[in-house]
Amino acid sequence: MLRNDAVEGAQRKFLDLRRFPRLGELSRLPAAHQPEWGDHADLECIRAELADLPSLIDHRDIRALRLALARVEAGAACLLQVGECAELFSMASERHVERRLSLYRRMADHLADRTGREVVLVLRMAGQHGKPRTQLTETLPDGNKIPVYRGDAVNSFAATVVGRRSDPWRLLTSYDRSRDTLKYLQGGPALGQRVFVSHEALLRDYEEPMTRGGKTLYSGGGHLLWIGERTRDIRDWHVQWASSIINPVGVKVGPTASGVDVTDLVRMLNPRREQGRLSLITRMGAAEAVGRIGALAEAVRELRSPVLWQCDPMHGNTRKLHGTKVRLLPDMRAEITAFVRTLRDSGCHPGGLHIEVTPDAVSECHEDASSAKGGDACPPCDPRLNSEQALEIVDHFASEISN
Ligand code: PEP
Ligand code: CO
Repeated sequence: MLRNDAVEGAQRKFLDLRRFPRLGELSRLPAAHQPEWGDHADLECIRAELADLPSLIDHRDIRALRLALARVEAGAACLLQVGECAELFSMASERHVERRLSLYRRMADHLADRTGREVVLVLRMAGQHGKPRTQLTETLPDGNKIPVYRGDAVNSFAATVVGRRSDPWRLLTSYDRSRDTLKYLQGGPALGQRVFVSHEALLRDYEEPMTRGGKTLYSGGGHLLWIGERTRDIRDWHVQWASSIINPVGVKVGPTASGVDVTDLVRMLNPRREQGRLSLITRMGAAEAVGRIGALAEAVRELRSPVLWQCDPMHGNTRKLHGTKVRLLPDMRAEITAFVRTLRDSGCHPGGLHIEVTPDAVSECHEDASSAKGGDACPPCDPRLNSEQALEIVDHFASEISN
């Protein structure tokens, strides 16, 4: 799948890390959860092409988002970060973008109505094309093993050996689809309104060349970037790269994160204690939430550094029932309740909700285990809330923070 126009343009160009000494230093650091591209001869050309393409975002919007997030930290607004677990390239159509945005807006309006507060809406959209995976391979019904799906930016969901081959040309398609998505977001129903987009900064060969700026670096790939639970080691590339850019950043923190891990992350990612810079997105699982969040909140409070606490009630609550991954709504409600009350008890402010939803009529999350029958279509990644469930979970968050 060669893009001739890109090959032509990129043949003599290579991403010159000397232009960005800081990025050059970082490129020697280890990065977890990266695809094996093999010795793909085109990788350097692809990186160079990405580096030459226009930034996907207007860098002035970074400041606007940081100011909005500062209002969330101060308790004057609340944050809703929402979108698909993994965007497929096929979702970058005008119709799908409009359907997603219309659901996200309804959720934000509902949160605003129920809380009487301004809602800052950040979409998991226009670049959420890479997925970290715990297992490297998946076993087919015939017993053969193939590499796992790593998101459309890397390989195909089609469960064949060829489909699952890592193809770095997909990084350029990821850029194109993100640009299309942003075009539809900014036209149509959002005409004239500012939209903020975010994705997990996972793929070094995409994020590094999408870094822009001179003395001050920023990501041109999205307004807010977050680091996943599996790649938050402070010595590694992901955290170090995030510390080099001025965009607001988030870090997912799960049940294995200690108080020391989290205070190190806060010091590294927000050394000047700036407002609107850093979100800690807790995803503990309902059973662990009270104890874990309490311990982290105590540790962070002592640093006197502003943090936007977000609750992801989904990733710590994934279960396997009848061989299918599901998430139960009572678990999510319990984690949200624990998040809000525990943070408040520790003198911290519960600022936002981070959830995976789809406008499609799916049945991937359930009210109780008995309604999960198995055999439901398997989503490309994690189980998502449908529209009705999404509004219900927003409602629960609203009632907890309004108490
Ligand atoms: C995600 O947000 O889709 C994800 C993989 O989350 P986590 O890093 O928290 O597991
Ligand atoms: Co997910």
